[in-house]
Amino acid sequence: MASTSTLSTATPSHLCSSKNGMFSPSQALLLKPNNSNRSSYGKERGGRIACQATSIPADDRVPDMGKRELMNLLLLGALSLPTAGMLVPYASFFVPPGSGSGSGGTVAKDALGNDVIASEWIKIHGPGDRTLTQGLKGDPTYLVVEPDRTIATYGINAVCTHLGCVVPWNAAENKFICPCHGSQYNNQGKVVRGPAPLSLALAHADIDDGKVLFVPWVETDFRTGENPWWA
Ligand code: FES
Repeated sequence: MASTSTLSTATPSHLCSSKNGMFSPSQALLLKPNNSNRSSYGKERGGRIACQATSIPADDRVPDMGKRELMNLLLLGALSLPTAGMLVPYASFFVPPGSGSGSGGTVAKDALGNDVIASEWIKIHGPGDRTLTQGLKGDPTYLVVEPDRTIATYGINAVCTHLGCVVPWNAAENKFICPCHGSQYNNQGKVVRGPAPLSLALAHADIDDGKVLFVPWVETDFRTGENPWWA
């Protein structure tokens, strides 16, 4: 009688032995020898099984393209969100300051936070007056009233160039005198006595639609004839 054998598909959990050692094929064909073919397969005895393996298709080990694209998108999203979070503040550092007005300036605010109206300001601030307002980047900035009762075309930043104290105006001395370490500035903010190393910063004080508008001063410092150190 012709010998017969049974073919079946192995599962990954199947371990097969052969003369060449152990292996675990995912799609191996198991050849279960019957009594008659034991002799032809030689020395197989008892529960031993001879194996005939096929190669494992690469598709079984590599995620399909859809999964790979999904994983790439997830990775891209995970990286881009924190990156954008860091880049936006960094880029905004290079954008000139402004309050959103078309000219890129900042409307001066009085002590109560109201916009400074030029015509109203000179009604209550006489010639020679130097009163603090809120200027560029929120810095305290003096608004100057000229002898002819007009608002000067420049504002004086009140932050001391030594260690950053706010410098008060001393009308009796006609100077700005810093209470922290005694630095002095003339009535235009030019340093006349240290330890402050530099003059007070300037800003343009323009009149726009009746309001005082501070605009960054990037031109030559008219007090020293030098480039502005703050620009
Ligand atoms: S902070 Fe003004 S003199 Fe030192």
